[in-house]
Formats: sequence, structure tokens, C-alpha cells
Amino acid sequence: GVTPKIAPSMLSSDFANLASEANRMLDFGADWLHMDIMDGHFVPNLTIGAPVIESLRKHTKAYLDCHLMVTNPIDYVEPLGKAGASGFTFHVEVSKENWQELIQRIKSKGMRPGVALKPGTAIEEVYPLVDSENPVEMVLVMTVEPGFGGQKFMPEMMDKVRVLRKMYPSLDIEVDGGLGPSTIEMAASAGANCIVAGSSVFGAPEPAAVISLMRKSVLE
Ligand code: DX5
Ligand code: ZN
Repeated sequence: GVTPKIAPSMLSSDFANLASEANRMLDFGADWLHMDIMDGHFVPNLTIGAPVIESLRKHTKAYLDCHLMVTNPIDYVEPLGKAGASGFTFHVEVSKENWQELIQRIKSKGMRPGVALKPGTAIEEVYPLVDSENPVEMVLVMTVEPGFGGQKFMPEMMDKVRVLRKMYPSLDIEVDGGLGPSTIEMAASAGANCIVAGSSVFGAPEPAAVISLMRKSVLE
């Protein structure tokens, strides 16, 4: 069976105090820390890379769930492996030819491979990567256009989650974008078990309450 993983998106944190923000989220009950790596090319925003992951790793043992919004994910495998990343989720839109090699290398560096898809990408695109002999272990269904926090959840993406859950009962299915108390029910009932949430957690007066509410939804 699948277990809930609540993953605050550190994109909504105070990057100048990343270690204390991370440990604050873990104290609040977070399972994973979601790290948004953007290259200013695949998406129109630029965030962090391996050096910041390496620095954060010195302050926490937590699972660092890295979401690579980059055009050349293969270039990031070795540096992120060395830096101490836990999960490495690349976008299917940029891995058309080399996904088998990419998955292979991610695993050889001790990380867990995942594949993400943008709202405009059909769910069928990820099937070969899940059905492969050397498969990805998570599918991230984007529920906003990647690039920025604080956008509105796209409920029509739940069709992708439902069909994926039906086909793969024990697969980790992650949703990312606009998740919070008002949208978690739609995502959880569709079958998502890994929940990324940035603004709804960091902006809450009681982040721990939001995290536990989302965990309860996934369990129900
Ligand atoms: C968007 C990122 C998300 C983002 C989510 O490109 O992939 O992880 O930080 O933020 P919220 O939860 O505010 O939509
Ligand atoms: Zn993300």
C-alpha cells in the first residue's frame, strides 16, 4: 500500500534561513522537504542547485525530494547525488530520448527516480517509464504550470491521478501546485499520496495543523 508523504515546498520558505525553515517544517510533522530546482530555461524562474542542497544536507537528515525543472536533468545527477539529494524527479517533456540512461544514473547515485509532467502533457507519456524494467518510483502530476508558488490548483488534472492510481495501486503519486486545506480532498480522493504544499503551509498561522489535516485526508 501507499503511505502519505507531506512535503512542504521550500520555495515558499525564507531562503536566507533555509536550515531553520527546514527543521521548523520537520518539527511541524513534514515527511519530506520538497526542493524546487529551476534553471531559468525550462521555466521562467531561477532558484537553487546542488550547492544549496549540499549546504542544507549538513543541517538535516530529512528526505530531500528534488523536483528538477531544468532542460538538461542528466547534468544534475552527479552533483545532486554528491550533495545528498534523496529523490530526483525530472520532467518527461525533456527526457524523450534518454530516460532509460537517466533513471539508471539516478539509481547508481543512490537517489530515487521520479518523473513529472506539466499540465499540458498527456498521462500516457509517463507509462513507458513506469512500465520499464528499471522504472521510476514516483510520478509527479503538476497541478499548476511549473515555475512559481502560490498559483491556483487545476482540478482537471485529477483525471490523470485517477487513471494512474487505477493502473498502479502501489505507485507513489505526487501532486504539486495549489494544494492546501481547500484542495487536498480532491487530490487525496483521486489517489495522490505524496502532497507538495508551499504557500498553504508557510502562510498558515499553524502549519502543523495544515500538515496533519492533509495527512488525514490521504489516509481516509
Ligand atoms: C511550482 C513548484 C511548486 C511550488 C508549489 O513550480 O513546483 O513546488 O512551490 O507552491 P504552492 O503550494 O504555493 O502552489
Ligand atoms: Zn515542485
